[in-house]
Amino acid sequence: MAPAVARTGETMKSANFSSGDIFDVSGSVVIVTGGASGLGLSIAEVMAANDARVLLLDIDQARLDECQARFRAARLALDVAILDVADIPALQGAIHAAAERYGRIDAVFANAGISAGSGPFTEFGQIANVREEDWNRVLQINLTAVFATIQAASIHMKRQRGGRIVVTSSVAGLRAERHVGYAYVATKAAVVNLVRHAAIELAEFGVCVNGIAPGPILTNIAGGKLKDPDIAKPYIANVPLARLGDPDEIKGLALLLGSRASSFITGTTIAIDGGMTAW
Ligand SMILES: NC(=O)c1ccc[n+]([C@@H]2O[C@H](COP(=O)([O-])OP(=O)(O)OC[C@H]3O[C@@H](n4cnc5c(N)ncnc54)[C@H](O)[C@@H]3O)[C@@H](O)[C@H]2O)c1
Repeated sequence: MAPAVARTGETMKSANFSSGDIFDVSGSVVIVTGGASGLGLSIAEVMAANDARVLLLDIDQARLDECQARFRAARLALDVAILDVADIPALQGAIHAAAERYGRIDAVFANAGISAGSGPFTEFGQIANVREEDWNRVLQINLTAVFATIQAASIHMKRQRGGRIVVTSSVAGLRAERHVGYAYVATKAAVVNLVRHAAIELAEFGVCVNGIAPGPILTNIAGGKLKDPDIAKPYIANVPLARLGDPDEIKGLALLLGSRASSFITGTTIAIDGGMTAW
């Protein structure tokens, strides 16, 4: 059987190999969950700067308003909608409404996620102290909502016979990570296999499903705690490049995975971690 991506006509054969062509996302419809801050915002910026039509879904109205003002000032196309991804019917409804409104969905970044607090080497991060309500909230946002995002987006992408789904995992999903909580590592590992599973089912429809696994990046996660140099220090000690990442550094990978440049990449999770997982 011929590879599915060949059937969609999305292979590099039809491109002229100039980077402008293979990374061209102009006119694409892109949805980013958790897009009002940090990595999601950088993903939205790079897609919009390359003339994609971007819809941000986020729980934080104030940040969504700020994003709209910034994008408007830069003359970039942006739509926003307030949404708690933990509300699965609302999440899937927003994705279906976007497909209806724009006529298609080219790329979805299932990026919204929350930290699960401290890791097992702190008093409240120890296994005996993990609270059921915290566990359930993290699972709902970091895992169930990611599944629901893939489920809803895939309906439209199968019909279109093409699309890109990109899930934000973490290096904490690829290896043990002493600084973060149990529910976080469990969900971030779970989505790595969810990506593989969805990728094999959706391959014949030309839909590529991949993950990104960031190392420590200076965002507002966990209340922006990495902005405190004392808190950041032990994280940096695990990074061969010996620094935190900047949210802007996600842009190249986002554009790769959200464009036809990644036409033969599916089912994988790519670390973007300053070398952390090489150790
Ligand atoms: N920053 C890091 O070091 C790091 C490392 C590995 C993985 N990640 C992952 O990257 C993703 C983005 O995190 P970030 O670091 O940019 O954090 P961030 O806090 O800066 O941004 C997360 C965004 O998600 C939104 N959000 C949170 N809960 C939501 C919900 N229930 N519904 C809708 N939106 C919601 C927030 O309002 C915020 O705008 C997360 O999945 C996170 O686990 C981050």
